[in-house]
Amino acid sequence: MPRDRTAREGVEWMRHVDVKEKVATLGGSLPDWAVFRRLGDLTKLRAREGRFFPVNYESGLLLYALVRHHRPRSILEIGTGRGFGALCMAMALEDSGGPGTIVTVDMLGADDPQEWALDDGSGPRMARLSRREVWERHVEPRLRDRIVQLKGSSFETLRGLIDEGREMDFVYVDGDHTYPVVRHDVYASLLLARPPFRLLLDDYTPLSHLYGVRRLVDEELDPVFEAEAIHTDGRWHGQPEENTPVAQSDQAQVLLDSERVRKRLDEAFPRAKVARIVRVHETWPRVLDRLSALRSLVRDLASSGRAKERK
Ligand SMILES: C[S@@+](CC[C@H](N)C(=O)[O-])C[C@H]1O[C@@H](n2cnc3c(N)ncnc32)[C@H](O)[C@@H]1O
Repeated sequence: MPRDRTAREGVEWMRHVDVKEKVATLGGSLPDWAVFRRLGDLTKLRAREGRFFPVNYESGLLLYALVRHHRPRSILEIGTGRGFGALCMAMALEDSGGPGTIVTVDMLGADDPQEWALDDGSGPRMARLSRREVWERHVEPRLRDRIVQLKGSSFETLRGLIDEGREMDFVYVDGDHTYPVVRHDVYASLLLARPPFRLLLDDYTPLSHLYGVRRLVDEELDPVFEAEAIHTDGRWHGQPEENTPVAQSDQAQVLLDSERVRKRLDEAFPRAKVARIVRVHETWPRVLDRLSALRSLVRDLASSGRAKERK
C-alpha cells in the first residue's frame, strides 16, 4: 500500500502525514497533553484481559486542532462512544471563545449504561456507567453545554437533521465502519455539509482491508477530494502492532476539505444523486428487520410443525 505520493491512473495518491506534523501546520496553541490524557482516561481508555490501554488519544488532539483552526460553528459527530471526541471538540470551541455547538449521535443514549474502562485518578477500573454519570461527575458544564446528544442510529438521526434543513461545517464520521453504513454516513453528511466544510473519517486502515472506510475513500472520495490520511497512535500495547512505528501503524483519520478538491463537488456529487444514494442506504435497516422477522416466522412455523408431528 503506497504511503507516499504514487501515480494512480493519473491521480496522486493521498498524502500521508503524522498527526503531530499536521497539528503543527494548523498552528494555534494547544492544551497540555495532560489535558487530553485526563479526558482520555475518563472517556477513551480501553481494557483487554485485565489490562488497560490509552488507545488513540491523539484523535482528540487532531479534532481539537482542526476545530480551533477552522472554527466551525455547527459540528456533527456520528458515533459518540463515551464522548472523548465530542468533549475535545467542545474544549476547542470553548478555547476559541466563539459560538459553536456539537450534535453527536449514537445508538446508545446519554443515560444508557455501557461497559466503561476509566481512570479518574484512583487507578484504572471497569464499571457500568452512562455518559451522563461520568460527564456530570468529571466534565465542566461549559463543555457539556456545547454538546447535544441524540440517541438513535445514524440512519434515523441524520434523516431527522436533513429534514429539519440543518447545515454542518464539520463532521466527524466515527460510527459503524462497515462499508454500507459508513457510505450512508458520508453521503448523508454531504447533504448536511455547508461549504466550506470539512469531514474527518476515523479508521482508514491502510494496511488491512477490515473496514469499509478504506474502500469508500479509495474508490469514491479520494478521486474527488484531495484527501489526506493523518496517522494517529492507535496501537494497542501488548498487541502484535505494539512496536510498529506510528507512521507505519494501521490507523489513520482521513480529512476531506471542500476547499481542497480535484473535481467540482457539485458535479462529482450532485445533490439529487447524493440524496438518492442516502435513500437507498436508509432502506437497509428496514430490509434487515424484515428478513429477521421472516426468519423468526419460519423458525416458529417449523417448530410448531414439529410439535404437531410429535402429537
Ligand atoms: C468508536 S465509537 C465512537 C468514539 C467517539 N467518536 C470518540 O471519539 O471517542 C463508535 C460508536 O458508534 C456507535 N454506532 C455504531 N453504529 C452506529 C450507527 N449506525 N449510528 C449511530 N451510532 C453508531 C457505537 O454505539 C459506538 O458508541
